[in-house]
Amino acid sequence: PVQVKKICCIGAGYVGGPTCAVIALKCPHIQVTIVDLNKARVDAWNSPDFAVPIYEPGLVDVVKQCRGRNLFFSTDVDKAILEADLIFVSVNTPTKKSGVGAGFAADLNYVESATRRIAAVATSSKIVVEKSTVPCRTAESMRTILEANSRPGTRFDILSNPEFLAEGTAIADLFKPDRVLIGSLQTTEGKEACRALADVYANWVPQERILTVGLWSSELSKLAANAMLAQRISSINALSAICEATGANIDEVSHAVGFDSRIGPKFLRASVGFGGSCFQKDILNLVYLSESLHLPQVAAYWRQVVEMNEYQKSRFSKTVVDTLFNTITGKHIAVLGFAFKADTGDTRESAAISLIRDFLSERAFVTIVHSALEACTQKEAIIIATEWKEFLEIDWQTVYANMSKPAFVFDGRLLIDADKLRKIGFKVKVIGRGERV
Ligand code: NAD
Ligand code: UDX
Repeated sequence: PVQVKKICCIGAGYVGGPTCAVIALKCPHIQVTIVDLNKARVDAWNSPDFAVPIYEPGLVDVVKQCRGRNLFFSTDVDKAILEADLIFVSVNTPTKKSGVGAGFAADLNYVESATRRIAAVATSSKIVVEKSTVPCRTAESMRTILEANSRPGTRFDILSNPEFLAEGTAIADLFKPDRVLIGSLQTTEGKEACRALADVYANWVPQERILTVGLWSSELSKLAANAMLAQRISSINALSAICEATGANIDEVSHAVGFDSRIGPKFLRASVGFGGSCFQKDILNLVYLSESLHLPQVAAYWRQVVEMNEYQKSRFSKTVVDTLFNTITGKHIAVLGFAFKADTGDTRESAAISLIRDFLSERAFVTIVHSALEACTQKEAIIIATEWKEFLEIDWQTVYANMSKPAFVFDGRLLIDADKLRKIGFKVKVIGRGERV
C-alpha cells in the first residue's frame, strides 16, 4: 500500500500556502514542499522575519513551527515534482476573460500547464490531487494529459480534494474542518490512492469527517457548496430591499428565520454584497457548465444569484446618491474598508471596488489614506464597506466634529450602533432597515 512521505504543492497562494503548511504541522513525518513560479511570492514565504505573502490569523505561527523542518517553499517546481509521491495542484482558476465562455467559464490554462509539467518531469508513479476549484470532469482531462505524456512504468492516480476553507478563518477551518472531501475513480487503484490521501488527513481529522466519493461528485460538490452559500446571501439581500421599503428590519428577519433548525442561523447576514475570489467565479462556472449541458433553466436559476448580488451593490450606491440630495458630484466620500470581508488582506471582487467605481463615475472624490479617522475628516459621507472591528472603535464624536454637515453614515455591513451615532448628530442609513435617516 502507498504511504505518502513527500508532498509537493504546486501553487503557493491563499489555498496552497495555508493548506499545506497545516499538513506539515500536523504530519511531522511528511516532507512538504510548496512551489510557485512567482519568485516574489516564494521569497515572501521564505522571508527571515516571516513576512508571509498573505494575511491570515494564525498562519505565521504555523509557518514558524514547520519552515525548515518539514515545510519548504521553492521555485524549483521540477525538483519538488520529481521527489514527491503526492502532488497537490493548487493553482488559480480565474474566470476566462476572452474566447469561448468568456465571462463565465474557468480558465484552466494554469491547471493544464501544471499537469503537463508533472507528466514531463515525473520518473516515478504519483498521486495527483486536484485542489483547485474546477468544472466537473476536469480530472478526466488531467488524466488524459498525464497518461498521454507519461514515461513507461509511471502511473498516475488522480484525486479530487476541493478546499472549503474561508479566508480570514483559514487556519481554524483547516485545523477543524467540517469535512474533508476526497473523490476518486471507483477502481482498486483509485480507492487505494484515496486511502493514501485520507491517511494524511487522518493525522488530525476525525475519520467520520473524511468523506470519500466519486470524482465527479467531488468536483461538483465544491461548486454546489459555494453556490448554495452565496444563494443564502442573495436571498437575505433580496429581503433587505423589501425591509428598506416596508420598515421591517433585516436583522430581526434573519434572526427569526435562522431560528428554524432546518434553515440555521449562519450566512444570513445582509450586506452590501458578497465578494471574494470564489463565489462569483464558481457560480458563473456552474452557469457555464449548465449551459454546456443544455440545461438553460438550471443556468438561469444560478445566474440570478450573481445578478441579485450586482443589484445589491448598485442599489446601495443609488441609496447614497439619493440620500445626498441626488448628487454626489464634487462631494468627498470616505469608504471604510476595501477588503472583501474582515480579517483578510484580500480585495479580489470586493464590493468596495464596485461602490468606489460608482462614486467615481458620479464624479465624487475618493482618496486613499491609512487611518479611518483621517479618512473621515472633512467628508460629506462615510460608507462602511468592510466589517473591520476597528471601525466600531473609532472616536465617532471626533469624526462628527470634523465632518461637513449634515454628516451621513451608510452602513453596508450592519456594523455600527445606528442609534448611538444618531444621538451624536449623524444621519445614518443601514442596509435592510426601513427607518428614515
Ligand atoms: P492564488 O492566485 O492565490 O494562488 C495560485 C498560485 O498558483 C499563484 O501564486 C500562481 O503563481 C501559482 N501558479 C499558477 N500556475 C502555476 C504553475 N504552472 N506552476 C507553479 N505555480 C503556478 O489562488 P488561490 O486563491 O490560492 O486559489 C487557488 C485555487 O483554489 C482556485 O482554483 C480557487 O478557486 C480555489 N479555492 C480558493 C479559495 C480561497 O479562499 N481563495 C478557497 C477554496 C478554493
Ligand atoms: C468562501 C466559502 O465560504 C469557502 O467555503 C470557500 O472555500 C471559498 O469561498 P470566502 O470567500 O473566503 O469563502 O469568504 P466567506 O466568509 O464565504 O465570505 C464571502 C463573502 O460573502 C464576503 O464578502 C462576506 O462578507 C459575504 N457574506 C458572508 C455576507 O455578505 N453575508 C454572510 O452572511 C456571509
